[in-house]
Amino acid sequence: MGDGALVIDCEGLTRSFPSGVALDGLTLDARAGEVIALLGPNGAGKTTTMRLLNGVLHPDHGRARVLGLDPWTQGEELRRRTGVLTENAGLDERFTALENLEFVGRLRGMTEAEARRRGGDLLERFDMGDRADVKVQGFSTGQRKRVALARALLHDPELLFLDEPTSGLDPAATRDVVDLIGSLANDLGRTVVLCTHFLGEAGHLASRMAVLFHGRLHAFGTPDDLAAELWSSFEVGLDLGAPAAPGLVRHLAELPFVRQATATDDGARVHVGDRKEVPVVVAACVAAGASVYAVDPHDPNLEDVYFAIEAAATAAATAGAEPPSAPAGAAGPELVP
Ligand SMILES: Nc1ncnc2c1ncn2[C@@H]1O[C@H](COP(=O)(O)OP(=O)(O)OP(=O)(O)O)[C@@H](O)[C@H]1O
Ligand SMILES: [Mg+2]
Repeated sequence: MGDGALVIDCEGLTRSFPSGVALDGLTLDARAGEVIALLGPNGAGKTTTMRLLNGVLHPDHGRARVLGLDPWTQGEELRRRTGVLTENAGLDERFTALENLEFVGRLRGMTEAEARRRGGDLLERFDMGDRADVKVQGFSTGQRKRVALARALLHDPELLFLDEPTSGLDPAATRDVVDLIGSLANDLGRTVVLCTHFLGEAGHLASRMAVLFHGRLHAFGTPDDLAAELWSSFEVGLDLGAPAAPGLVRHLAELPFVRQATATDDGARVHVGDRKEVPVVVAACVAAGASVYAVDPHDPNLEDVYFAIEAAATAAATAGAEPPSAPAGAAGPELVP
């Protein structure tokens, strides 16, 4: 987590539409220079969160300070300091790429020359320099996205709301945009709220992740914090060249710090409380006459974390209850209630 000033501070944000509750009591924060990822399936409430925090949508309940301002009474002032990339780029089809940027630049109080210069530089930055004077109506999805990203950055905002910034981009453009987001935060101290369905992108960029399901926040923290909350045991695979004999599995399971031991096709899988217990397990195998060819500790990745949170959220929804205290096989996540 960044040590910077509190840029977003919201509590209990709730918003319903006629179709139901889109966001239910969201509390989170972001500090200057942080990238916060909003994760969750379609309809989870990610875009609604961004629209609320940028003051373009009013909540039914809850409070927020964003860049020290109240988004709903000081929205115009706030939006002068924020940049937004919406899910569908929302460009004016009749204008060229550069004209789209100039128009927004003028609205934001830039001179025509300033808007042209900065817009031209950003289009170059996004590899769209040769299309600056072409009408947007013939652009591909990815080309539109690049122009919209340039537009979001035009006035050098302190806080960026980027809603699926890489969807529709080719791999090279995706890498450029991911690098750019990283450098905006790390080099320039900009704060970024990022909605994405790409877990790798979130893992690479975000200091903290907020995981939403059905409008409710089910977890918020660094990937490591969330993994530690979800799994208090540490899993290690042992390659013994053949399935572990039942006697060895029993022996391992009876070691005081081993929580679970099972045979696998090439050896055994053992759950221990801590990494430092792994050599003791290996020594026990060797003392029992087994040959240990390889030891393969399994560190959960972001996908493991996300799907464990999803499983817990689904189980809670099915049970009609609060999120449960543990997904199957884990010793107790402290998921956000
Ligand atoms: N303007 C609106 N009018 C009516 N319902 C809305 C409106 N905006 C959002 N919703 C509803 O609120 C819920 C959350 O929508 P939201 O757009 O925030 O989801 P999301 O997490 O961004 O999903 P996606 O990954 O598909 O973009 C959905 O059920 C959606 O239908
Ligand atoms: Mg969305």
